[in-house]
Amino acid sequence: MDKRTFIKNISLLGITGLPGVSNFDKWISKFEQFSPDQLADDETFWAGVRGGYKLKPDYINLENGYYCFLPQETLEKFITHVREVNYQGSYYMRTVQWDNKKAIAAKLAVLAGCSADELIITRNATESLDMIIGGMHWQAGDEAVMAEQDYGSMLEMFKMVAAKFGVINKIVSVPNHPSSDEEIVKVYADAITPKTKLMMVGHMINITGQILPVQKICDMAHAKGVQVMVDGAHAFAHFKFSIPDLHCDYYGTSLHKWLSVPLGAGFLYVKKENIKNIWPLLAEGDKKEDDISRLNHIGTHPVHTDLAIADAIDFYLKIGAERKEARLRFLQNYWTSKVRNLPNIIVNTPADAARSCGIANVGVNGMKPADLADTLFKKYKIYTVAIDYINVHGCRISPNIYTTPKELDQFVFALKELSKN
Ligand SMILES: Cc1ncc(COP(=O)(O)O)c(C=O)c1O
Repeated sequence: MDKRTFIKNISLLGITGLPGVSNFDKWISKFEQFSPDQLADDETFWAGVRGGYKLKPDYINLENGYYCFLPQETLEKFITHVREVNYQGSYYMRTVQWDNKKAIAAKLAVLAGCSADELIITRNATESLDMIIGGMHWQAGDEAVMAEQDYGSMLEMFKMVAAKFGVINKIVSVPNHPSSDEEIVKVYADAITPKTKLMMVGHMINITGQILPVQKICDMAHAKGVQVMVDGAHAFAHFKFSIPDLHCDYYGTSLHKWLSVPLGAGFLYVKKENIKNIWPLLAEGDKKEDDISRLNHIGTHPVHTDLAIADAIDFYLKIGAERKEARLRFLQNYWTSKVRNLPNIIVNTPADAARSCGIANVGVNGMKPADLADTLFKKYKIYTVAIDYINVHGCRISPNIYTTPKELDQFVFALKELSKN
């Protein structure tokens, strides 16, 4: 079998003949004439989507923020890849693994709106972002800016870089309910000094679901000669955007979150002109200094996961990026609008539609977030995650496209009961 035929056979670009898949395709095509907004509250359409998932009956899962497990269609294709790679063994590893990975990275680049030579597949957002933090050419006294609402692993990496190279970290705090984009931009601008080299900005803050005005922050930072790295762990394939429109220098995300890729996949975008300025995580042989594959050496890894990225993209595009975004926004608004103004309920996510999408955070006065999560789970059979630090005290609520308004009614009922006690 020649290389080209092999790549084709392994269903790299979405060719598989799974039972049920073609019916799902036919069914979904019936809704083509409707706009994303028309479909956002169309329970017939979303019930069909829900049918594509195998859901645990034990509880209502409102914690998709860690991992958006796979719809059956992607899972079956992933298992096919595991079998196929196992069947081919070393032959696969020595022939097409790198061509396949490159082709899938190119498919991801189309989705991200960037050039294929600016994006590599990584194992997760941590690898992507920490490679930039650790790979900058730091000098003692250089400064970095980040927020206390940023993800712990990256904050720890900045601490390590401070200990290793004498970098000074400036930590800002993002308000939960900003009155304007300018208020947020100012928070970051005020932390910049002539020594600032890099700024980390969350595209969507993971503990509240707040979306930050990244493009405005990048433009402000660039005007002061500061580079910006964006943590997009929760943004990619959650709501629609194009990376170049953000004007950032670096962008890292996980793909096992909102793209529903099997566990252990992410990507890193590096603007072409910056590639030469980053040390790789693990050393690679001689490559041109602006070749992004220089940053992609990780040794042997689960290559079948790379293959399933292409399938997850196909599933995502079939649902439709705009439809998914509209549905997730509808679901969040469905429950937050019913509780936001109730006594003893604190919603830690902005009400402005442009500042959030599917994720929100809610607390109950007088109840520790851990107790709230525990009671929701044990008494009401609703699974969430407690967040209890800095300015966020509540449970993070992250529905997915299989979530129903009826499930959210159960959650609203629970919140109303708990807030009365
Ligand atoms: C904002 C943010 N950044 C980075 C990460 C790290 O993602 P991963 O564990 O996939 O590397 C997470 C994980 O939840 C996150 O929420």
